[in-house]
Amino acid sequence: MKKITIAIDGFSSSGKSTMAKQLAKEIGYVYVDSGAMYRAATLYAMRHGMTNTDTGVDTEALIEALPQIDISFVRTPEETQHTILNGEDVEKEIRGMEVSSWVSPVAVIPEVRRYLVKLQQQYGKDKGIVMDGRDIGTTVFPDAEMKVFVNASPEIRAKRRYDELIEKGTPSDFESVLANIKERDHIDSTRKESPLRKADDAFVLDNDHLTREEQMQVLIKLFREKTHG
Ligand code: DC
Repeated sequence: MKKITIAIDGFSSSGKSTMAKQLAKEIGYVYVDSGAMYRAATLYAMRHGMTNTDTGVDTEALIEALPQIDISFVRTPEETQHTILNGEDVEKEIRGMEVSSWVSPVAVIPEVRRYLVKLQQQYGKDKGIVMDGRDIGTTVFPDAEMKVFVNASPEIRAKRRYDELIEKGTPSDFESVLANIKERDHIDSTRKESPLRKADDAFVLDNDHLTREEQMQVLIKLFREKTHG
């Protein structure tokens, strides 16, 4: 069967990573989390004194350091994927609050985006890949055979994120989680370089009222159409 490229984009906490991971597993494709790459570059900047609460990100220094930032992925024996930054497993650290608070200003730097997009395109050169992010169907793989744009209301996404935090034992209140989601939506969709936008040829998956199984059925059906049709 011919291998295709699958691009999954959507707002934060829309459940797209879980969906992309599960789909890749089901069809035997490679999964790449492009957000993890922006997070790893952010961690590099933080560790090298390029982030400062008063002055922001030292854009010039970061651009100069880009060739020294090597990002890859490994599969653990538990079948999960970990992000490797210059040989070190940074999976846990890149998910923390500190990286989360610096990643938006790093992800708006055009040179950073160009560097990571090139890496992402290399991962996808042999097809057989599912990549999720914000600009995969529009910028990274504009020719992807299957594009999905995941939509869910801010309230539903905030509820999911809130439940996740509570489950992890992190004290939270729903209103601030919702405010944070709305703020990130705004930053992601209004930035100049590669804003989050539905590709014209993307299939819109509205998942407010779908269970995980129902979502997977929709994706598998679409995948079959694209590979057999
Ligand atoms: O999906 P995530 O929350 O792990 O993404 C982290 C950040 O990276 C988020 O602020 C948006 C940004 N990002 C991006 O600009 N482009 C992508 N393709 C993926 C993520």
